[in-house]
Amino acid sequence: MLSAVDNELMTRVGAGTSMGNLMREYWIPFLFSSEIVVDGPPERVRLLGEDLLAFRDASGKPGLIGESCPHRGASLYFGRNENGGLACIYHGWQFDVNGKCVAMPSEPATSNFHDKVATVSYPLAEQAGVIWTYMGSSSALPPLPGLEWLDLPQDQIVASKRVQYSNWVQGMEGDLDQSHLSFTHRWLTLNPDSYRRGVDVIRQNDTHPHFEVLQTEYGVVVACSREVGDGRKYWRLTQQMMPFHTITPPYGDDPTRNWRAWVPIDDENVFVIGLTFHPNKPFTAEEREGLEQRAGVWTISPQFRAPKTSVPFGAWRPTLTVENDFHQDRELQRNGLYSGIPEFWAQDAAPQLTMGRIFNRAKEHLGTSDTGIITVRRRLLNAIKKHEVDGETPPEVLNPGVYQVRADALFLEPDESWLESTAERRKVSAASNPDSPA
Ligand code: FES
Ligand SMILES: [Fe+2]
Repeated sequence: MLSAVDNELMTRVGAGTSMGNLMREYWIPFLFSSEIVVDGPPERVRLLGEDLLAFRDASGKPGLIGESCPHRGASLYFGRNENGGLACIYHGWQFDVNGKCVAMPSEPATSNFHDKVATVSYPLAEQAGVIWTYMGSSSALPPLPGLEWLDLPQDQIVASKRVQYSNWVQGMEGDLDQSHLSFTHRWLTLNPDSYRRGVDVIRQNDTHPHFEVLQTEYGVVVACSREVGDGRKYWRLTQQMMPFHTITPPYGDDPTRNWRAWVPIDDENVFVIGLTFHPNKPFTAEEREGLEQRAGVWTISPQFRAPKTSVPFGAWRPTLTVENDFHQDRELQRNGLYSGIPEFWAQDAAPQLTMGRIFNRAKEHLGTSDTGIITVRRRLLNAIKKHEVDGETPPEVLNPGVYQVRADALFLEPDESWLESTAERRKVSAASNPDSPA
């Protein structure tokens, strides 16, 4: 459990809150490059409780500015994106990608009032098809975190997003909790189509995995082992990277890898943005098609994606909700799936959303299976307190190389150390992409 005070500290992200201040020290990924086009309509974006608009100007430069017009508060969403800025439809005040007021046609031509007006704007970085923003106070921009995929070409990446109507910590905790794999995502009779049948058997047979954790410069490694049944142990290592990034372990020969971030929209809503990528070869058209159709933690099968609207992240909202029971099928629950919920991400969302928008962690009863989430909460709370006391930028923000890590999965003999055996495999390496059990 967590005290009510610590729960508030960890979950609240608005401007001026402790976690909000800490999170604003980090670059935040939020948009795909393809979502805004030159002189095209702006996209509504809500990050850490702030209403913003993203758009791309005539020169191709992306911008992120406050949605509310500084004149009299109309939404700039309806604005005209032309001549190097977004012009408000109410009186024509126009703002460029840096938030500078570049035209004020409702005032006399001789007026210099427009020089005195600016709107909120945050700097952006665009790399590997993803747009990031820095909402912090430092005038010297920190480097992007050195995630493996940032240097990969687009043909080695498949990307997606998903909105979830809960606090961000609840979402991220699902990634750190390998215990639930034996239940939430379990087929009652082994799925003949599963590409990870061997792992499914292990998860079915050993439902109480053993957890160990490692504190690192960038976050926490959550290591989890299950008995294979032949004396060996099956280890899976999840990476949690400050503040909201996770990498879950791979499956199979020369595996694809993944990354995701649980980015708070506000206190009660989160979106998960993520990629599947291969470190050294492009996806075939067939592989790409398969990945784009698949439902995963952060990907929604196309038929369960709501039609795009102009609300923030309006292209990435699912149609399965608490109100329609995530299309749970009680017959399927008796005979097929432990959860009875067919769509993969919805199997996670059903428990996570029914905890309430911001779960009151003073009510919980944590067991040994919760070791990973307990450690990451402690890490977050310590980082908040340290940031508040010394006011310094967290060291990992300034050391992008510490993010050059991979998750891992492998079989080990009982006397082998996962720490030693995975030391090299946990590093990003151009030379090798070691196999993992499937
Ligand atoms: S409210 Fe935007 S220009 Fe007047
Ligand atoms: Fe899950």
